[in-house]
Amino acid sequence: MSVLEVEHLSMAFADKQLYEDASFRLNKEDHMGIIGQNGAGKSTLIKLLTGSELPDEGTIKWQNKATVGYLDQYVKAGAGQTIEQFLHTAFAYLFKLADRQAQCYAQYALEPKDELLEEAGKIQEKLEAADFYEVDTKISQVMTGLGIDQIGTNKQVSECSGGQRSKIILAKLLLEEPDVLLLDEPTNYLDTEHIEWLTNYLNNFEGCFMVISHDFDFLEKITNCIIDVAFGKIIKYTGSFRSAVKQKEIKKEVQRKAYEKQRQQIEKDEDYIRRNKAGTRSTMAKSRQKRLDKMERITPPSDNLQAHFGFPYVNLMSSEVLTVQNLSVGYKSPLLAPVTFSMSHGEKIVLKGFNGAGKSTLIKSILGQIPVFGGTAKFVDAAKVSYFDQDLVWDDPNISPLQTIQNQFPKLEPKTIRQRLARAGLNASNAMKPMKLLSGGEQTKVKLCALELVPSNFIIMDEPTNHLDDETKHALRDALQAFQGNVLLVTHEPDFYDGWVDKIFDVAAARI
Ligand SMILES: Nc1ncnc2c1ncn2[C@@H]1O[C@H](COP(=O)(O)OP(=O)(O)OP(=O)(O)O)[C@@H](O)[C@H]1O
Ligand SMILES: [Mg+2]
Repeated sequence: MSVLEVEHLSMAFADKQLYEDASFRLNKEDHMGIIGQNGAGKSTLIKLLTGSELPDEGTIKWQNKATVGYLDQYVKAGAGQTIEQFLHTAFAYLFKLADRQAQCYAQYALEPKDELLEEAGKIQEKLEAADFYEVDTKISQVMTGLGIDQIGTNKQVSECSGGQRSKIILAKLLLEEPDVLLLDEPTNYLDTEHIEWLTNYLNNFEGCFMVISHDFDFLEKITNCIIDVAFGKIIKYTGSFRSAVKQKEIKKEVQRKAYEKQRQQIEKDEDYIRRNKAGTRSTMAKSRQKRLDKMERITPPSDNLQAHFGFPYVNLMSSEVLTVQNLSVGYKSPLLAPVTFSMSHGEKIVLKGFNGAGKSTLIKSILGQIPVFGGTAKFVDAAKVSYFDQDLVWDDPNISPLQTIQNQFPKLEPKTIRQRLARAGLNASNAMKPMKLLSGGEQTKVKLCALELVPSNFIIMDEPTNHLDDETKHALRDALQAFQGNVLLVTHEPDFYDGWVDKIFDVAAARI
């Protein structure tokens, strides 16, 4: 049987039907990708599968005994533990067995009963079968693979940034080796080389998995089937990601044509009914009305709001805008060799190179938000800098996007804010919900909308494509490309910056 059977699943929130009567299966050889636009209901689906939310209707059946590991889109965990301690908890069961074994030996020294030796022997077999003596090697492999060693294994998990925590929890999940992995946007906080490592890991993973991602290159490499969450349906496609997209396009086109045909027919019938309601053809009109009433209406293949962005530009008359000299950045000690570079007017640069928190730290140091060990970073006086940071953190997650923006811009009319949110791809009902209920992509759109309200000539963005669906990424890319000022960008997605940035600054090599 399948590992997971989902049947007749329906789920709706007050304003939106996510899926209706959806069924699909996860088989044991499936390496499944989950795709769909922001707010389609992908994260909600995973919450339903793990039982943390209940569906309106339908059944979710897991195969008995299947162990399931789950990585949330915004993770919280590990209070009061160092990274190393936290990762060891992946093997808590084995450590407990080892403790019991030690106890057996200690007791045997006091009273030499054979049962004690026997029990210790059995435990030994179990420990060996579970590779207990390889635990440290396994932990260090995963840590290096995901770049956790660079954070420092003695760091408290609670002191880590959101991105770092996400990595650490992913590491623990992989170490636990469940039968099924459920990962919600695992690449959001990973650098290129760690994504490669994860790709490789997942390709060799013996169980099955479901991975939500907006990173199409990644999906193409790791999946052998796809489920698409769209227009109230969940449809499974087998084969590679690209072939799924092709099948989906064809389906969409068929649906669009059917919808168009039906719409024309409806208009014709309605017109006929209007004209003939009272006349000699009223019986015919009535029967057409009946036909209309009975007709199962085809939904149009797209009802989503498409995002558009535009960043207002403040004129700047200066050739050099930013000069960074021997800037030495880090927290307890420098993270990198001193960095030197400059940006001239209108120049657009992608930062890449070293791993982990390095790039975000460099940006925060340039902005003067954290102290530096040495060197300088200077913007010209007329520079107006807009900054998009990596974390989705709100002062008050219980208030709506409308209120959040209103608080930041008290002079703006609510109507204007609504229009701006809509332009950023957020529909009217999402503009009124508490922020914490919005999907990752929806929250990111609110952040981008706030940024659009402040004119600037220098935009700094740290991983802005995290959480965004493909269409929204394109809209953002177009806006950054059209921006007349400077852009300093950190991103792990070459597709996002290929073709329009002026330079790629590899900070590791400290040269442009
Ligand atoms: N408790 C809730 N009440 C009302 N609406 C909700 C609630 N939880 C989620 N939603 C809405 O349901 C929709 C689906 O959310 P979900 O997080 O599943 O989207 P997603 O497909 O994961 O999107 P993304 O790609 O942006 O992460 C969103 O429009 C979200 O605002
Ligand atoms: Mg989501």
